[in-house]
Amino acid sequence: MESMAKNTDIERKLIKEIDKTNLPNHIAIIMDGNGRWAKKRFLPRTAGHREGVKRVREIVKACGDLGIKYLTLYAFSTENWKRPKDEIDSLMKLLVEYLKKELNTLHKNNVKINILGDLEKLPSLPKQEVFNAIEKTRNNNKLILNIALNYGGRDEIIRAIKLLAKNVKDNKIQLEDINEELFKEFLYTGSQPDPDLLIRTSGELRISNFLIYQIAYTEFYFTDIYWPQFTKEHLFKAILDYQNRNRRFGGI
Ligand code: IPE
Ligand code: IPE
Ligand code: MG
Repeated sequence: MESMAKNTDIERKLIKEIDKTNLPNHIAIIMDGNGRWAKKRFLPRTAGHREGVKRVREIVKACGDLGIKYLTLYAFSTENWKRPKDEIDSLMKLLVEYLKKELNTLHKNNVKINILGDLEKLPSLPKQEVFNAIEKTRNNNKLILNIALNYGGRDEIIRAIKLLAKNVKDNKIQLEDINEELFKEFLYTGSQPDPDLLIRTSGELRISNFLIYQIAYTEFYFTDIYWPQFTKEHLFKAILDYQNRNRRFGGI
């Protein structure tokens, strides 16, 4: 029940410091470092993923409580299929477990679950759980929780182009009408606002095919902390850091 834990003194102090009128509307997180967290403790990689799920609970709850509108979590990339079958199986199992355990709480907290990625390639059990979660939370609107699952930014762009090309071929869209606004609608994120803040844990300084179209003007926050250790205290610090940035969007 860690996610239910009351805020510590330091967390309360950080929450007070956060400017509630300047919150990032959309936070995206590359949850990285589960394996290295486990290795450091002589534990199997799966133990790291399991601990990572606890942070997912904690961060989702904290974002909802703060009033963040969109949270996107990178859970499994199109490249992660390269991992050993055992690890993939345990990641899928953890996803099913998370949804089974958390769905009622998420629903009660008015969280809407949305998936970014091609669900058709998922094994049937996780696919079923995911569809069930989407269906149950479809009318919720406090926090939109995007789970990037079998997600790749390049895959997303190619898919969008194919859909768009089909529409042009069928004369439903004219070539002249294609612009940034229209193109965006064909991405998994649809009409959602672009991320304002992108967090990557574990010290890696790369994007790993995450939201490559949507992060054109996103603020980046990199931390050496491994994901299983990224508590809400770290989230609040990242938001405070974001609030000190000067976003110019090409202006002066
Ligand atoms: C992130 O942790 C979880 C997923 C990619 C699914 P990793 O499993 O990548 O952990 P490291 O980067 O090997 O430490
Ligand atoms: C990115 O982490 C994908 C997720 C967090 C789901 P990876 O661990 O797969 O990325 P690389 O391989 O270090 O670039
Ligand atoms: Mg990694």
